[in-house]
Amino acid sequence: MAEEPNHNSIDFSGAGPTGEQARLATAVENAAEAIIITDFDGIIQYVNPAFESIAGYPRSEIIDRHISLLDSGKQGPAFFQDMWQTLREGEVWKGHFVNKKKDGSLYETEATISPVRGQDGAITNFVSVQRDVTHEVELQKQLRQAQKMEAIGTLAGGIAHDFNNLLMGIQGNVSLSISEPDITAPLLENLQKIEQYVQDGVKLTKQLLGFARGGKYEVHLTDLNQLLEDQSLLFSRANKHISFEMNYAASLWSVEADKGQLEQVILNLYMNALQAMPREGTLTVRTANVTIDKDRFQPYRVKAGRYVKFTITDTGIGMDEKTQHRIFDPFFTTREKGRGTGLGLASVYGIVKNHDGYIDVSSSEGQGTSFEVYFPATDKVVAPQDKSGESPAGAVETVLLVDDEEMIIDVGTRMLTRLGYEVLTAANGVEAVETYRANQDRIDFVLLDMVMPKVGGGEVFDRIRAINPAVKVILCSGYSIDGQATDILKRGCNAFIQKPFNLKSLSNQIRAVLDEP
Ligand SMILES: Nc1ncnc2c1ncn2[C@@H]1O[C@H](COP(=O)(O)OP(=O)(O)OP(=O)(O)O)[C@@H](O)[C@H]1O
Ligand SMILES: [Mg+2]
Repeated sequence: MAEEPNHNSIDFSGAGPTGEQARLATAVENAAEAIIITDFDGIIQYVNPAFESIAGYPRSEIIDRHISLLDSGKQGPAFFQDMWQTLREGEVWKGHFVNKKKDGSLYETEATISPVRGQDGAITNFVSVQRDVTHEVELQKQLRQAQKMEAIGTLAGGIAHDFNNLLMGIQGNVSLSISEPDITAPLLENLQKIEQYVQDGVKLTKQLLGFARGGKYEVHLTDLNQLLEDQSLLFSRANKHISFEMNYAASLWSVEADKGQLEQVILNLYMNALQAMPREGTLTVRTANVTIDKDRFQPYRVKAGRYVKFTITDTGIGMDEKTQHRIFDPFFTTREKGRGTGLGLASVYGIVKNHDGYIDVSSSEGQGTSFEVYFPATDKVVAPQDKSGESPAGAVETVLLVDDEEMIIDVGTRMLTRLGYEVLTAANGVEAVETYRANQDRIDFVLLDMVMPKVGGGEVFDRIRAINPAVKVILCSGYSIDGQATDILKRGCNAFIQKPFNLKSLSNQIRAVLDEP
């Protein structure tokens, strides 16, 4: 093969280098960058220790092999043709490689390859200097992903908010019409259909809100084992063809979370798992306490700390790599038209993010899929809690209804009147405070919209509470910004009600607050 003597300027013949050559050779040997020298045909003649450690090949195994040994297949023949042509024309080539290590795994490098000329001016060798950028590339990808998700999250939140207001208008009017005493049977049936469609719409906005940034409403100490068990019972009853295997960690740490949203996460993951196993299979659930230390911490993804982890594994159809990259994108679905919205995992992702957790997926086609979900652990301990109680209908009490949407004021007034309340209204924050101040002796409670321009619900709450520290306030919104609702609830606001609501849920919520001691 390479019979001819080399004329490269770095002497590797072992004939005893001069002082300058020895210094050069030492420098190359100690460089942090991987350095590879090939002959004109691409046969490797030298690699330095940095290359050995990055690529995992000992020098003895790679000398005299062709450089294409490192080819991962990710670049394609045209890429290499172009590179070789540039080099053989005597030009320096700069570019990005995805290479294959000895163990088959991939690494990415920024490479500069320079032709080396012999004394006669002909190219004899190529020197390639490569920096391992695998980690940087991965970080960039994560940053891009995080930014993308944040942008779509903001969009989703806005859409959900506007839709919930619209649905509130429809729901309110329908629920008022249904409760008319002289309604005819066919009309009732139509209205009930509309109510059903509104509920479908609510399901959609609920998923969207889950995905939206900051939509974390009511935070409670939560036992994940219990939550997973409750949901599993529901699902296992209805899916006898699947065997459920539960492996709960003893003394699992608690998490501080919105219980409704956690249920939404588990429900979506179970639904997907079951859809991946139409005939039979095993759904395995596992929980564990996990501490992520500095070494495993990844910026943009996960902070060091204590986490509660649960894993949901199915033995279903699995996913190829391309699908796996897109599953968290809103509206990405592989299901038939009309069978899936593609919002399930998007909302899972949003909810997990809003709780400062993170989620990982691993899957292979035909083998099954596994989702790992991490929520930050808390030191607090879950105390058993339960309070319930249905309530009688309204008495003559007065409510101040505050909302910047005319439609909500309109339908809200009619709903509250129907429930038997006296209604005062305010169309913005300033008006709300003024009306409250002027009528504080009459007003029994305030139904307060959270998101309003200029003076928002939070500020109105603080101001009217300064007027009357015992004031009862129900916060209401189709949306939430960065746990703002939670914040206001923590400051002593009595309850939160999500738009759209119907007569019954509004009535129940009001009674619960008014009948509180
Ligand atoms: N456990 C799983 N096994 C195989 N594929 C899955 C699994 N979970 C999700 N996927 C894939 O990810 C896609 C997106 O899932 P996602 O839950 O976001 O939407 P969907 O299930 O298609 O619709 P929806 O949840 O609104 O009913 C699915 O269409 C499916 O291709
Ligand atoms: Mg789904």
